[in-house]
Amino acid sequence: MKKFVSLFLALIMVLSVCVIASADAAPKKVGISMPTQSLERWNRDGEYLKNQFEAAGYEAILTYSDNKNEQQVNDIDNMLSQGIDLLIISAIDGEGLNTVMDRAAEEAVPVIAYDRLIMNDAVEYYVSFDNYTVGKLQGEYVEKALDLANAGDKTYNMEFTAGDPADNNAGYFFNGAYDVLKGYIADGKIIVVSGQTDFQQVATNQWSTDTALSRAQNILASYYADGTTLDAWLCSNDSTAAGVAQAIESDYAGDNAVIVTGQDGDIANLRNIVDGKQTMTVYKNVANEAVVTLEVAKAILSGAPVDESLIANFGDVECAFDTTSYFTSEGHFATSYLLVPTVVTKDNLQYLVDIGLYQWDADQVYLLAK
Ligand code: BGC
Repeated sequence: MKKFVSLFLALIMVLSVCVIASADAAPKKVGISMPTQSLERWNRDGEYLKNQFEAAGYEAILTYSDNKNEQQVNDIDNMLSQGIDLLIISAIDGEGLNTVMDRAAEEAVPVIAYDRLIMNDAVEYYVSFDNYTVGKLQGEYVEKALDLANAGDKTYNMEFTAGDPADNNAGYFFNGAYDVLKGYIADGKIIVVSGQTDFQQVATNQWSTDTALSRAQNILASYYADGTTLDAWLCSNDSTAAGVAQAIESDYAGDNAVIVTGQDGDIANLRNIVDGKQTMTVYKNVANEAVVTLEVAKAILSGAPVDESLIANFGDVECAFDTTSYFTSEGHFATSYLLVPTVVTKDNLQYLVDIGLYQWDADQVYLLAK
């Protein structure tokens, strides 16, 4: 009998250990808040992030907030109420999340600002691409394509379209490009015929294609309808480039190929690149951005150091650790992981197929998502 009782007690002990272990093994929950489904890339980001985290054993809640700041605040509040352990947020308005970020801090829920920095000191971690370099690559593309360094007395006409002022990235993109070109503008080698060169003048609320289209139409009607040649239009991303390319097609009388830059590698824009309506895009591999985000999240949640040593876990993803470029307020720098963007033109579209994220259509002419 004694033997039976001790066997019974031992069994109970084993069972309770199992119960505790399984309670411990309850998956950690991450909340993923993306800005909108209306722009192609965020659909990809949301999908990659959710899949990555689930495959790694996390529970993932994914929300899209229709480009509305208030909705994003609500979505994040709801996720906090569901007891999430970590937040991954791509902000619609970098200055619009203060209350909910303070709540996350009070509840000790760490936040990774994803792609776009959030202007709140409670936000410590940032995963993105080197945004200044994105703009620099666009500016350098125009510089090379027009061979500005050897232009002699020749002058070129161009215009600028930047992104959403509420998005912290937009200024970095614009400055990166403008810093390459401003010397040529000062020398008179580049003439911005509309005279619009300030970020605020060329910005596009919500990165809207329609807004970029109508501003481009106005500029073409006001400054180029007399036959003035347009050589280049620097656009900060693909959604704005789509509007500008459409305006050039319908409202520009010249027959030269206008250089149009972009960013993201949206399918419609890759099509425009094949058709000669857009010239380049700066491609950012968002599947890799999700890989880095997962590794940073794992480190935060397990109490491992979140520093340069993490890069060893990113496999062959090229990424810089940076603590001096991005700040949430003066002197308050974000711990940043910055991936490396790539220029894509008509000549290296195959690169997108080689990295496994796109495929050729049946006629091998245009690219499709994979
Ligand atoms: C992203 C770009 C994107 C833009 C509009 C930016 O914050 O970095 O990749 O084109 O938002 O969605």
